[in-house]
Amino acid sequence: MATLTNTHPSLKKAWHSLCRSSDATAVPHKETLMGEDWVVWRGPNGQVNVFRDLCPHRLAPLSIGKCEGDNIRCGYHGWVFDTSGDCVEIPALGEDATIPPRAKLTGPAGVHESHGMVFIAPEEPLTPAPTLSVMDNSNFQIGDLPVITTRASAGLLADNFLDMAHFPFVHAATFGAESERLVPPYTVTRDGFTFEAAYEHDFANREDPGVEAGIRPLIQRRRLTYRYIAPFHLELAIEFLDAGGTNVIGFFLTPQDADTVRIYSSLWRDDLDGSEERMKEAVDFEIAVVEEDLALQGTFKNLSLPLNITTEVHTRADKTTIELRRILDDFVEAASK
Ligand code: FES
Ligand SMILES: [Fe+2]
Repeated sequence: MATLTNTHPSLKKAWHSLCRSSDATAVPHKETLMGEDWVVWRGPNGQVNVFRDLCPHRLAPLSIGKCEGDNIRCGYHGWVFDTSGDCVEIPALGEDATIPPRAKLTGPAGVHESHGMVFIAPEEPLTPAPTLSVMDNSNFQIGDLPVITTRASAGLLADNFLDMAHFPFVHAATFGAESERLVPPYTVTRDGFTFEAAYEHDFANREDPGVEAGIRPLIQRRRLTYRYIAPFHLELAIEFLDAGGTNVIGFFLTPQDADTVRIYSSLWRDDLDGSEERMKEAVDFEIAVVEEDLALQGTFKNLSLPLNITTEVHTRADKTTIELRRILDDFVEAASK
């Protein structure tokens, strides 16, 4: 396996972010993952339902249908399907209809809802369900970034997120400190199809009110802990060692089709005293950071992540992104068995 594209078939055997929990409502809607459409709805029982967006009758998209209680009614000939995907009504055949055994919706192998996101595994997943270190911690305020849909490779975006040597160059206008060119030695701890990496560095803390007040210097220390779960779930926990507090960024990438990725990102902060205004500022700052990365990513012509370790040139500063390639290469191999 030389490269990983957004639509590589092995990716079906993994969990993927599909939409935000708040997007799953009593109005069915369509989401696209790896070129396939899925219909999503949530009935009064609160359960999220996800099936291929195809009615088995005439293959009309079910997302044009309507919810009826927990069930969904197709918008073309009105067949009704329950939450297990079984057809329970065919209006044209009346009350005593015999339902054809193949009148069933096709579901994913798994649906999972956590930290404000709906995830699906199209086929039996080899990867663990996505988690975040802050899941049940009520000390944290949550701020959602607007959903971004962009021309990109999910693999290259994951690579960019995990990269530690680009800050002074790509993020000079936000947090990239010029003094921070050198990436200090750090360790990466792999566990199956996941890894964790931590290190400390200097950065320009432009968000800290203490800088303007003259209490703290602009250049401060922070500890970054990266957590990666294959294929495209990422977390960065930033501990502000001088100003105090923790900022967790969750980053979930949905490979929609060969050249489109949807980015879901949220912030968990415990240092904003519940202030909505400061959270808005934090979200705006993070949007600016993501836009800097996307401007760089927009210049890539080839939208795939090389998995063959000899294709690119690596250094010890690239440990996280080497591990990303190793894990995805092992995953692709495991998925092809
Ligand atoms: S296409 Fe859905 S009921 Fe006919
Ligand atoms: Fe970046």
